[in-house]
Amino acid sequence: MTPTNYDESKVPAYTLPPLLIAEDGSKITTAFEWVQKRRPQILNTLKKELFGELPPRPETFTKEVVSVKEDALNNTAIRKEIKLTFTNNGKSHSFLMLLYIPKNVSGPVPVYLGLNFKGNHVTTLETDVIPTGRNTAGELVEPDAAGEQDRRWIFADTIKRGYASATACYHDIYPDDKEADSWRKSVYNLFFSEETDEQFHTHGTAISGWAWGLSRMLDALENEPLVDTKKAMVHGHSRLGKTSLWAGANDPRFRFVVSNDSGCNGAAIHRRVFGETIEVMVHYFPHWFVTSLNKYVCKEPELPFDQHWLVALSAPRPVCIASASEDLWADPKGEFLSGYHASEVYRLFGAQGMPTDTMPEADQYVTGEVSYHLRTGKHDQVLFDWIHYFDIADKFIR
Ligand code: GCU
Repeated sequence: MTPTNYDESKVPAYTLPPLLIAEDGSKITTAFEWVQKRRPQILNTLKKELFGELPPRPETFTKEVVSVKEDALNNTAIRKEIKLTFTNNGKSHSFLMLLYIPKNVSGPVPVYLGLNFKGNHVTTLETDVIPTGRNTAGELVEPDAAGEQDRRWIFADTIKRGYASATACYHDIYPDDKEADSWRKSVYNLFFSEETDEQFHTHGTAISGWAWGLSRMLDALENEPLVDTKKAMVHGHSRLGKTSLWAGANDPRFRFVVSNDSGCNGAAIHRRVFGETIEVMVHYFPHWFVTSLNKYVCKEPELPFDQHWLVALSAPRPVCIASASEDLWADPKGEFLSGYHASEVYRLFGAQGMPTDTMPEADQYVTGEVSYHLRTGKHDQVLFDWIHYFDIADKFIR
């Protein structure tokens, strides 16, 4: 494996693949041309070369409210657990979504949706939440970690700010296991079970499976009287930040897209070759990407895309890119730059995008249609990050 570069002076000179020149060489000068012509090209390239195709819609989709707690979080919230079941080709797949909705609000409220790493029970200090998150053998991955990642979810603060919040465990949609056949325990198995593992990984990936799951969670919220699904916001940390960007790219119902420390193949610009690289990623996490990505190992200048394309797919909807100062693996500067470069698409819509061309000091919130902050500290998603997400939602979504 090539040694990791953490030295800014060793970042090579590079030219980014253009956002606003179409494949036929013509210039994109209007929002209309972007939407009609260029955006589909970019989405298609990222499907072919990076994340593959989301699963299709299933023949049937049902939801069942498994529990309701009317006095959750010290009587400030209503808590629900909702089971989503999909059937196709005579097979079915289910997962459990946890939902908190503020009480005593006058009408439906905007909702944050995000996947969790270790199970619904790990996201909350409430001890009566059903444990979820199973590996390919069907065992709970974290049976004893209840409440351990409450800091990443801070449901009580979200409720105080007047937002609903929904989560499900990503393993229950596609178990995060690099074995080539782990997709057979995922939602994709409903649709492609006849394929070989090799065929599957030319078009199906865990990240697309997870992004699909986020869209289905949003479907399941459609009839919740206190949730405004026209004001849905998707967030994700790290691999799940790569996923939230991809979910935002594929599902325009996500009106605000949050990338928290998403790094390589998330918001970070590949051509900087700083921190994690494609070489590392396809070795340790081959199931997150289509096999086509292997062609670009140690060949960043040959990539037909770079990650500002991924960010631009959400334009003109607000995006927030968050980094952490000690998270050099995720390349904070590269994350900032993708937001900065994606802003030219926002300008086609008469928006500004990122309101600065200079990376801000640590702990400063830069807020625009493309927002950014660099939190002092480690790779994580904590209250400081959330406050920015709440402020942006107050400004652009509410
Ligand atoms: C690894 C991986 C990152 C990823 C992170 C995470 O560190 O290299 O790309 O973002 O896991 O998801 O926590």
